[in-house]
Amino acid sequence: HIGFGIHINSDPTAVDKEIEGLNEKYVLKFSHVVAENTPKGIAASMFAELVREKTDGWVDVQVFPNGILYEAQEEFDALMKNEVQMIAPAFSEITVHDSKWKVMDLPFVFDSEEKVMEAFDGKIGELLFESIEKQGYKGMAYWDNSFKQITNNTRPIIEPDDVDGMSFRVMPSEVLMDTYRTLGARPRVYSFNEVYEILSDGIVDGTENTLSNIYSKGFHQKQKYMTISNHNYLGYAVLMNDKYWSTLPVEHQENINQAMKEVTRWLRLYAKTHNAEMLDRIDASGLTTIHYLSVEEKELWREQLDPVYQKYAGTIGEEIMNEVYLNMK
Ligand code: LMR
Repeated sequence: HIGFGIHINSDPTAVDKEIEGLNEKYVLKFSHVVAENTPKGIAASMFAELVREKTDGWVDVQVFPNGILYEAQEEFDALMKNEVQMIAPAFSEITVHDSKWKVMDLPFVFDSEEKVMEAFDGKIGELLFESIEKQGYKGMAYWDNSFKQITNNTRPIIEPDDVDGMSFRVMPSEVLMDTYRTLGARPRVYSFNEVYEILSDGIVDGTENTLSNIYSKGFHQKQKYMTISNHNYLGYAVLMNDKYWSTLPVEHQENINQAMKEVTRWLRLYAKTHNAEMLDRIDASGLTTIHYLSVEEKELWREQLDPVYQKYAGTIGEEIMNEVYLNMK
């Protein structure tokens, strides 16, 4: 063996399996930063269970949630060093490593889940994986969470000008930072598992996230106002280290791919239902006043944020931007 990866030789009698490399136990550490009871958390556990079943326990996927091993940006390095074998970062985190992914952070670029799915399944999804694979990642799947909503503790946010002067925690994405700056707000980068504390301490006025992340981490307990803006889709790319992947026996690769396919299909329906349920729970908590942006209000936001499109279209590249404009129709 080329000595890459973690193997425990535990069945020396299985000669046939030895020939195929199947008598070694493979441990795949899967790191993610969110809570277990979220779309990504549940999908990761389900994936681990399915892989265990399909490989009779020879591939052991161990899930580490809540950023207990690494924060989102540290995960990329850990994956490349083979300290973990799987990660599922949000698109905004990937923009730090690959500029083309900035497309996913353009404000109001997708106006429905259906449009997002078309992007995942179509040319945009293909081009983004092609791009990141040049850096040694293997793109396994696109995983759903949902659209992001804006929360804050200062005043109801209805028109774009309402955010003027406020500070917001964002993920480390230049596009997100420019989105807030364009509206006169101050973006501040903090990792996900710092958010509850900075909201509690009033270090920032607000933040943006999916309803599942807001509810599972209790952000709504610290935020008086929430705007259902659906301004960005928060999705994930499940990534492996391509070098590590190629050390896995083909039979395991097939089982892993099959498990990934099944979980991804299930997650598409589940993520939407889960986030809708979390909206009901946040509403029922009575802690946060909710405003739903109307179509006209959204149009106003989209217009004011046009400079962000102008700034990043070139970096993202014509090929992907053309697909974006097609997808918008
Ligand atoms: C965040 O950092 O706000 C989220 O993207 C975390 C996640 O992975 O959903």
